[in-house]
Amino acid sequence: MNIPVTLSYMDLEGKQHLAPGVSAAQKGYLDIIDQTLLPGEQKRLRLETPEAVYEAIKQLRVRGAPAIGCSAAVGLAVCAQRFESTSVQEHLKKLRECAAFLDSSRPTAVNLSWALKRCLAAVKGTTIAEINQQLLDEALTITAEDIQLCEAIGNAGKTLLKPGMGVLTHCNAGALATAGIGTALAPIYTAARSGIKVKVFSDETRPLLQGARLTAWELAVSGVDVTTICDSMAAQVMGEGRVQIVIVGADRVAANGDTANKIGTRQLAIAANYYKVPFYVALPFSTIDRSILSGDDIPIEQRSADEIFHCDGAKVYNPAFDVTPRELITGFITERGILTEV
Ligand code: MRU
Repeated sequence: MNIPVTLSYMDLEGKQHLAPGVSAAQKGYLDIIDQTLLPGEQKRLRLETPEAVYEAIKQLRVRGAPAIGCSAAVGLAVCAQRFESTSVQEHLKKLRECAAFLDSSRPTAVNLSWALKRCLAAVKGTTIAEINQQLLDEALTITAEDIQLCEAIGNAGKTLLKPGMGVLTHCNAGALATAGIGTALAPIYTAARSGIKVKVFSDETRPLLQGARLTAWELAVSGVDVTTICDSMAAQVMGEGRVQIVIVGADRVAANGDTANKIGTRQLAIAANYYKVPFYVALPFSTIDRSILSGDDIPIEQRSADEIFHCDGAKVYNPAFDVTPRELITGFITERGILTEV
């Protein structure tokens, strides 16, 4: 299987690293594939300034909750290597400002602030060199852990899949959205490795087409049977009996299990409930925000009107996420197994 690599840490000699063990004495880059150009063009970007990392996350050049957490963490570490601080205090101040700036790039996926907080908490050093080393180690640990979490989510979720099953997914919660093999798509990849082949229906995912461009592309290049449908076709396809399970990712799960994910997820859950199709959310535990009691308090990103086709005189409303109530979710596929409560 040829699953694409989303992000890595590239050192100055151009060597890519996915796991800890990099020499932090070297200044490095965050290396990402520019997802806005996929599937037409596979262009990799080297990011090394706070503005470049912020822009890449904001413009969805790298996107998906775990991937933006990992990118922000590695981004913070590589930016810190370039700060021209004259004291530890000044360095720490710049670090906190940079983390707050990166954190403000997108509001809904909790993995972003979770990863940045974890990196800041890892800083215990008394010299700038030690601090930079600790930051890079923590960022690469978060990234390496994400690879393992995706595998564990895949192993848990593949028990739900049988050969020939129709699996509907929304947006992109695959390799392009994580450092590993994805969350919602992980069970499909792990099942395929064991010879269990399913038929995936990938919602187009308006307005930015993460399903039609990204999920369809990464599954197709990995040899998985994938069919693109418009978001508005999902209920019809379920009604025709083609879908036996829905699996989606998550950007933030409240303490009561209400789940924010890409806009259009809630209507899928409602349709799945009507047609009695099991509806699963796949996520690592870092996507759960226990400080938020219910979905009502999850911040929903509002994006530019330019993302939606419109004519003069018509207004545009463009929320990027919606919240699926807990009662519409059959279960949560996590690194700790399939859970009915989070
Ligand atoms: O706006 P995006 O493309 O970042 O939205 C992504 C999603 O909604 C994903 O389903 C979610 O982040 C989970 S990714 C494993």
